[in-house]
Amino acid sequence: MSIRTANINDSAQLISLFETLDQESTFMLLEPSERDTSLENQQKQMANFTDSNTQVMLVKENDKAELIAFVVGIAGNFIRNKHSLYCVIGVKSEYHDKGIGHSLLTNLEEWANNHGIHRIELTVMEHNLKAIRLYETFGFIREGIKRDSICIAGEYINELYMSKLLNK
Ligand SMILES: CC(C)(COP(=O)(O)OP(=O)(O)OC[C@H]1O[C@@H](n2cnc3c(N)ncnc32)[C@H](O)[C@@H]1OP(=O)(O)O)[C@@H](O)C(=O)NCCC(=O)NCCS
Repeated sequence: MSIRTANINDSAQLISLFETLDQESTFMLLEPSERDTSLENQQKQMANFTDSNTQVMLVKENDKAELIAFVVGIAGNFIRNKHSLYCVIGVKSEYHDKGIGHSLLTNLEEWANNHGIHRIELTVMEHNLKAIRLYETFGFIREGIKRDSICIAGEYINELYMSKLLNK
């Protein structure tokens, strides 16, 4: 199983991966029916990632070359925040607890170090203990709380801001 940069030819498989994650987990942002699943839209998004110095999508394949996990990093758009990379990660449930999340973050950090990034940041739902433990093991620290920032089935949920600073 290898980790590599995603490209436009992955678009159909990525839609399927994202749909699966939306259904499996309430820890992602979108409700299952909310995602734009058109191939054209996904291809447009992937075109923006190609050869970009400010955003990256890394994917993990299983031994049948099926996509089973991803991490996205998107840097700030402006001179004053282009050193900050916001990231989102997801691993299909049958592949949890095998070190895939950790490997994806390791690869993302390597990309960040090669692209002038000083800070990797994310938000995570306060009760997503597995993800928080992964991030803390990886060197992220808790910075603050986004109160009631998510609403799932009528219940408000806090998110944590977390970040990891890299060498300048
Ligand atoms: C959170 C998430 C990304 C973690 O991914 P993961 O691949 O399961 O994470 P890892 O396997 O790297 O780490 C999880 C555990 O596996 C353990 N592990 C690491 N390498 C391992 C290996 N080679 N074999 C077995 N276990 C291993 C880690 O020690 C860790 O254990 P711990 O929780 O006791 O510390 C994944 O659960 C997920 O996608 N969840 C749903 C969506 C989500 O929550 N996304 C994040 C939104 S902020």
